[in-house]
Amino acid sequence: MKELRVAIVGSGRMGKAHAERYVKVRGAKAVVAVDIIPERAKALKEAYDMEAWYEDYREAIGRADIDIVDVCAPTYVHEEIAVAAAEAGKHVLCEKPMSLHVPEARRMQEAADRAGVLLMIALCRRFDNCWMKVKELIQSGVLGRPVVWRSVVAVRGGAPPLSWFVQKDQGGGPIVDGAIHNLDFARYMFGEAERVAACTMTFREDATAADTGSALVRFVSGDDLVLSWSWGLPHGARGASVNDIIGPKGALYFSRDARPDFASLPPPDKGWGSVVVDAGEAGIQQYPYKLNDMYLDEIQAFVDAVREGRPSPIGGQAGIASLAIAEAILEAGESGATVYGPLEGGTVG
Ligand SMILES: NC(=O)c1ccc[n+]([C@@H]2O[C@H](COP(=O)([O-])OP(=O)(O)OC[C@H]3O[C@@H](n4cnc5c(N)ncnc54)[C@H](O)[C@@H]3O)[C@@H](O)[C@H]2O)c1
Repeated sequence: MKELRVAIVGSGRMGKAHAERYVKVRGAKAVVAVDIIPERAKALKEAYDMEAWYEDYREAIGRADIDIVDVCAPTYVHEEIAVAAAEAGKHVLCEKPMSLHVPEARRMQEAADRAGVLLMIALCRRFDNCWMKVKELIQSGVLGRPVVWRSVVAVRGGAPPLSWFVQKDQGGGPIVDGAIHNLDFARYMFGEAERVAACTMTFREDATAADTGSALVRFVSGDDLVLSWSWGLPHGARGASVNDIIGPKGALYFSRDARPDFASLPPPDKGWGSVVVDAGEAGIQQYPYKLNDMYLDEIQAFVDAVREGRPSPIGGQAGIASLAIAEAILEAGESGATVYGPLEGGTVG
């Protein structure tokens, strides 16, 4: 089959990250860069030796020689671009979060279904070998069940520096943007969410979204996700982070760097990492995984699916369901009420 030709729409950080990967991807190449800021589109085109650049995505999707539109623009324009691309008969790879609201996300999938093209949501952790090792361990019962995944993050310096990420109608704030990775992966490991309780607030003067939130998500499986995320600290400040999973048989750490006393564990081989389980008197065990480039593997999976006529590796349903949990957190944070599932729109009780 011929090499697929890709238009990257949005030539900012993720546009560049994707362009870098297309150099290595088999069966596809990035040939067009788009950005409403012309210098960015031009710079991306030149850096990756593409054929053309445009300010308006419609010029790219109007080209008959484009097979894939890779949406790396901000979240608030995902629906518009993805729907237009699907209607033009292009396969669509769309950065996470799928959109800001569930109805928009549904319309994206419906447009892809109507056009008979593939839509993939780039929920990249599903291609990260570390995260996949964690999923395998949890599902195999290494910690017993149910478990509690505790994810506490507070940064400004390490958070997206761009203001649009913390505007309600643009990026949606950290719950919709950054934590969507956790919401998706929790659902991927545990199954559907049952209910959500949350408190949200806003620290930053330039933010219109909640830039800080704490949530408890109970899954039908009985497992919990405890989230406390903030992108509201002053520039450069960092709060302490926690990222572990605890269960009746022990605690799981995502790397041997997570606890100072793990430094005495044998280091993984070059090119490998390890997830560590502390089972108390039963011992501390390392589980190795091969380090990989999740963005490269994600894009390759999409390209392979298009070329081989297989279903989307991560279809719209995953994007919709993770967004539904994020929206339920924001709804619970505003109303003070617990939001009960099914979490694809949320019903407050
Ligand atoms: N998967 C991940 O790990 C990851 C990491 C960061 C961001 N993201 C997601 O990727 C998307 C882009 O984020 P980013 O960090 O690259 O943002 P960014 O602001 O660095 O880049 C976005 C670019 O899109 C351009 N743009 C805006 N509207 C446009 C339009 N209508 N048409 C064409 N270009 C347009 C902007 O000018 C900008 O250059 C967001 O949805 C974000 O949530 C994903």
